[in-house]
Order: sequence, then structure tokens, then C-alpha cells
Amino acid sequence: MSRTTAKPMDAIALLKNDHRTVEGLFERFEKTSAKSAKEKIAKQVCLELMVHATIEEEVFYPAVKGIVEDELYNEAFVEHDGAKVLIAEILDGSADEEFFDAKVKVLSEMIKHHVKEEEQRDGLFAQAKKGDVDLEGLGVALAARKKEVIAQFTREFFFDAKTRIVIYTLSPRRAPSLEPNRLE
Ligand SMILES: [Fe+2]
Ligand SMILES: [Fe+2]
Repeated sequence: MSRTTAKPMDAIALLKNDHRTVEGLFERFEKTSAKSAKEKIAKQVCLELMVHATIEEEVFYPAVKGIVEDELYNEAFVEHDGAKVLIAEILDGSADEEFFDAKVKVLSEMIKHHVKEEEQRDGLFAQAKKGDVDLEGLGVALAARKKEVIAQFTREFFFDAKTRIVIYTLSPRRAPSLEPNRLE
């Protein structure tokens, strides 16, 4: 039997997959020494996190509201908001800045803690799994919204055909090279 038709990922598999992508990028950042490469990886991780946070907040979290503990649910939003402050600063910053590496490090620690709260035993995902949630249907909805959000973010970037880099236009001060396709 052909295995070419991949089964869509359920919601939790999709979100965990995003978490692994982000962890891989943070690891690459740690192992990289060239400033320009570090900046590129840092901005990539920020975009991955923005897409991920958006689909969780718009699709996943509302679907599990009332099913998971209120405390965990509320903390998840507050942790996202906390991370967004550093994400905005990193996207707007440069690897030449004194605190750039520290910001990325602190962001990685915040994300590590947050991912643990989502993935640990009896964490947000486990509670959602135990509840009456259509994880397959939710996976399809998350994947669809993810596509839209990536398209929206890509529209907000300016693609420089000559250098084949993408310039982040939300902050005209900076022109980091980003590869929007990586977000897929
Ligand atoms: Fe997450
Ligand atoms: Fe989250």
C-alpha cells in the first residue's frame, strides 16, 4: 500500500513538532560564533515562535479552555506575553549589541519552562488529551491557520531579489536576512 498520503498531524503532534524546531534553532545559536549567523538564527527562532504562539492562542488554547485547569491556561497566555517582549527586542536588535546573546539565552530559558508546562505529565497537552477534544480536527485547523500566518508574515517581509535575503519590514531600522520558507 502506498504511504505517500501522509496523515495530518494531530494538534499535539503538530505543536510538539514546532517545539522541537525551536529547540534545534536555540541549539544552533549556542554553537554558532559568527555574529551575522547568530543574528540570522535568533531572528528565525523569533519568527518560528511568533507563528507558534499565534496558532496556539487563536486555535489551540481556546479549544481547550474549560477542559484544562484555569491556572495552567492563564499562565500559558502570560508566559507567551512575557516571551513576546524579548522576541520584539531581538527582532529589532543586532548581534553587535551588548545584551543580544543574553536576550536570546533568557528567551530560550523562558521557552524551555513554557514548553515543559505544555508537555510534562499532567501538563496542558496531557490535560487536553484526557478531555473531550477532537485533536485530529484541531490539528487540521492549526495547520491551516499556520499556513495563513506564515503567508501573512511573509507578506510583511520584503524580499530582496538581488541578495536573495528577506528584509524584515516591521522594523525599518534593521535588515536581517531571513528565510521565510524555513517557517514551513
Ligand atoms: Fe507551545
Ligand atoms: Fe505555548
